[in-house]
Amino acid sequence: MVKASAPGKCILFGEHAVVYGQPALACSISQRMTIELEVEETFDKWRIDGRTFNPKKHPHIDFLRKQLPPTEEQPIHIRIRGSIPKASGLGSSAALSVALCGALQQLRGADLNPMQASELSHRAEASAQGGRASPMDTATSSFGGFVVLSDTIEGDLEYLGVRTMDVEGTTLQWHLHTFNTEIPEGVALVIGNTGVHGSTSAMVKQVANLLLENPQRSVELETIGAIARRGIQALKEGNMEAVGQAMTENHMVLRSLGVSSPELERLIRAAAPSSLGVKLTGAGGGGCMIALTMNPEETVGAIEMEGGRAFITHFNEPGLAIEDIT
Ligand code: MEV
Repeated sequence: MVKASAPGKCILFGEHAVVYGQPALACSISQRMTIELEVEETFDKWRIDGRTFNPKKHPHIDFLRKQLPPTEEQPIHIRIRGSIPKASGLGSSAALSVALCGALQQLRGADLNPMQASELSHRAEASAQGGRASPMDTATSSFGGFVVLSDTIEGDLEYLGVRTMDVEGTTLQWHLHTFNTEIPEGVALVIGNTGVHGSTSAMVKQVANLLLENPQRSVELETIGAIARRGIQALKEGNMEAVGQAMTENHMVLRSLGVSSPELERLIRAAAPSSLGVKLTGAGGGGCMIALTMNPEETVGAIEMEGGRAFITHFNEPGLAIEDIT
């Protein structure tokens, strides 16, 4: 039996603009997905949480088990546990794929390989979604901590590698980076979930249509890119007031692009007075918002008063990890 886990993520800066090559920053969160793999002695088919595995229902799991087939012929029982809310922009599906890669690597007797897990999971996510998916979620889940994506190599950050993907005849390319920073004592991140499912592909399409009709609005994406660079620099320097300020500015541009929602705005308004900065996180249209705060309990209370589900998360959570081998 092997057991591996991987964290979810939230985007601090740059969602949507990253699709057009602007820099973006994500960080791992405390909530994780755990995968347990056990070689079956008494069953002759792969199972998932006690039921016969159906590849059509779990296309990314099917993709990954074919990429990293166990060395033994015997079928495997996959158990999935986790505390990341589904379809809320926190990368639950990427974390599941990454944890599965780690567990399959262990089962094959190989070392844990976050770069391979990041690459295979990205391909699995893209193939299951039938096209475009940035490697933001899978890279953050694999490496943990802070991950910066950019279409150029950012010289002042630690370089992790490049991901390329052919989509509809064009080759997309993302450079992945990380950095270490000391987060000042007492600063926390609160996540507020609207409970409304936002569709990433629909929101990405909405922005694409807006730009098609009004090409001059690409200036807003450049503004997000500039805010992201400033926010990343402030985070590296541990200047959390400036990080919060940049988050709020980033949100205002996202709102003007039309990707916020009345539910997100309600939670953001409630969290703002007790926070250093607030913004939606992920594709928007629903899903989650985040607040950078020195008063996490107060911020959680304010979000819950408005009907959101809120929880505190920590920075620098580890990426892909082995939990148990027996
Ligand atoms: C979704 O979590 C983030 C977006 O920027 C889409 C992407 O990066 O692929 C909206």
